[in-house]
Amino acid sequence: MKCWIYFGFSLFFLGFSAQELIEKNQEVEVDRENLERCLRVCASLGFVSEDEEGRFGPTLSTKLLSKDTQGNLSGILEMFSSPLFFNLFSTLGASLKSGKSEAEKTLGMPFFDYLHNNPEDMKMFAGAMESHSALHTPAILEKLEVPEHAVLVDVGGGMGHLAVALLQKHPHLKAIVLDRPELQPMFEKFIKGQDESVSSRLEFSAGDMFKSVPAGDIVVLKHIIHDWDDDHCVLTLKNATVSLKENGRIVGIDAVLPKLGDSSDIATKVMDVNMLVAVTGKERREDQWREIYEKAGLVLEKVVQLKEHDAMSLVIAKKK
Ligand SMILES: C[S@@+](CC[C@H](N)C(=O)[O-])C[C@H]1O[C@@H](n2cnc3c(N)ncnc32)[C@H](O)[C@@H]1O
Repeated sequence: MKCWIYFGFSLFFLGFSAQELIEKNQEVEVDRENLERCLRVCASLGFVSEDEEGRFGPTLSTKLLSKDTQGNLSGILEMFSSPLFFNLFSTLGASLKSGKSEAEKTLGMPFFDYLHNNPEDMKMFAGAMESHSALHTPAILEKLEVPEHAVLVDVGGGMGHLAVALLQKHPHLKAIVLDRPELQPMFEKFIKGQDESVSSRLEFSAGDMFKSVPAGDIVVLKHIIHDWDDDHCVLTLKNATVSLKENGRIVGIDAVLPKLGDSSDIATKVMDVNMLVAVTGKERREDQWREIYEKAGLVLEKVVQLKEHDAMSLVIAKKK
């Protein structure tokens, strides 16, 4: 996987040998034989094709990993092959024994504090989130019901990618992105590039979701619930519920784990273990979602799957 990162993810796998790849990308210093060995692994995994002359060509998966492709997985790949995530995954054995996440012990602080203190890793993480958002934003835009003139709050909304996409689609919508104060400069940089008709309807609320959540008609939490243990989720959801406007909805946007006995959906199960090693959260089955919503004074109204063969869903709740 490092091959993609070294060569910048461009679609250059057009039938090149390891030697030709190196000649075409002279700024990348890699050993030819070792590159070939790694590319052969990629070929066996289906990420590239391989012929008898040692030429590596594209497959459908090559496209998914290319930065040139809309909704590609390059940011996620970059994150999972980073030293930070190798380090976190190496704690899995200890977590199995202790029954809890060892991330804080390894990083010396909670994961999000670590990111906010390490700008390079923060950039890499933001890239992964952007990659992931690009994959799901079109389906969210299609399936999330947004009443005209609503105020939408995006809890832990990061740089505002989702909020901007929603504002572009709904001309009367207003949006508030709640995130940690350290995120504000990255948010402002991203918003600067947006059209005035969008940026004028968007504000950043520098805060802490464990203390309060701004009032809105729709409160979305994308990739937030799976980051945290039940107690922190309930606390955040309670804060969102207290300030939720009349007839408002709270929408968790995360995967819903298959029931026990269903061995499909490898992606969500890998993400579940990722949540164990990196943070204190987990992916949840529908009954587990129902339980945390109940504890926060909410009722789960419906689960809307975003795409076929993909567990990412809108988990929609209203006040009890
Ligand atoms: C996994 S990211 C999800 C970002 C975005 N919602 C997305 O899907 O791309 C989690 C976000 O939660 C934010 N966050 C962490 N702790 C928070 C807190 N106590 N209050 C508000 N935001 C927080 C992080 O800064 C980060 O932007």
